[in-house]
Amino acid sequence: MSISPDISIRHAELRDAVGLRDMHAHPDVYKGTMQLPFPPDDRWKPRLEALPHGSINLVADAKGVIVGHASLIANPKALRRKHAAGLGMAIHHQWQRQGIATEMLRLLIDAADNWLDFRRLELDVFADNLGAIRLYEKFGFELEGRHKAHSFRNGSYVDVLTMARLRNL
Ligand SMILES: CC(C)(COP(=O)(O)OP(=O)(O)OC[C@H]1O[C@@H](n2cnc3c(N)ncnc32)[C@H](O)[C@@H]1OP(=O)(O)O)[C@@H](O)C(=O)NCCC(=O)NCCS
Repeated sequence: MSISPDISIRHAELRDAVGLRDMHAHPDVYKGTMQLPFPPDDRWKPRLEALPHGSINLVADAKGVIVGHASLIANPKALRRKHAAGLGMAIHHQWQRQGIATEMLRLLIDAADNWLDFRRLELDVFADNLGAIRLYEKFGFELEGRHKAHSFRNGSYVDVLTMARLRNL
């Protein structure tokens, strides 16, 4: 599936902080992440400013509206983990199931494999987030472990799975 021609995928900039806040403020988005309801205006600016060197932080921009966010977070200070990066992503509630996450993940993995030489991509995902797990499996992520009652979400404790994609180790 190709994504809408109205969407451009580009690096996140400080000016995207409000758009990221707005996108993550919807329950159908934050329920799959570690974000909270009612995010304040200043939720994203410090995160954008503190991005570790070597990370890639992409947004999907639909004519000025942020409709997707996907990051590879490097570990530049952990000298023995330079081969590893953490992955996170979310898509605007009105733009899900339109191939945006697939395209953003494809671009991140191309950068990881062919430009940054990250050989281990790792992520956490709620154990009942079957759509996200299916997406990650399509890109070669495998289950590594389960953290029981890892997080509190909408009134109950939920398990989190760790998954990773390894290349040429
Ligand atoms: C999970 C998420 C990132 C998927 O983004 P998306 O743009 O909707 O995904 P895509 O359209 O690229 O879908 C790719 C594949 O993932 C799987 N998938 C995605 N959402 C799914 C769903 N709700 N149910 C079942 N499968 C799903 C399917 O295999 C799909 O392929 P298909 O449409 O050909 O069947 C998005 O639903 C989201 O942002 N959810 C809220 C935040 C979140 O959970 N983030 C992940 C944190 S680990």
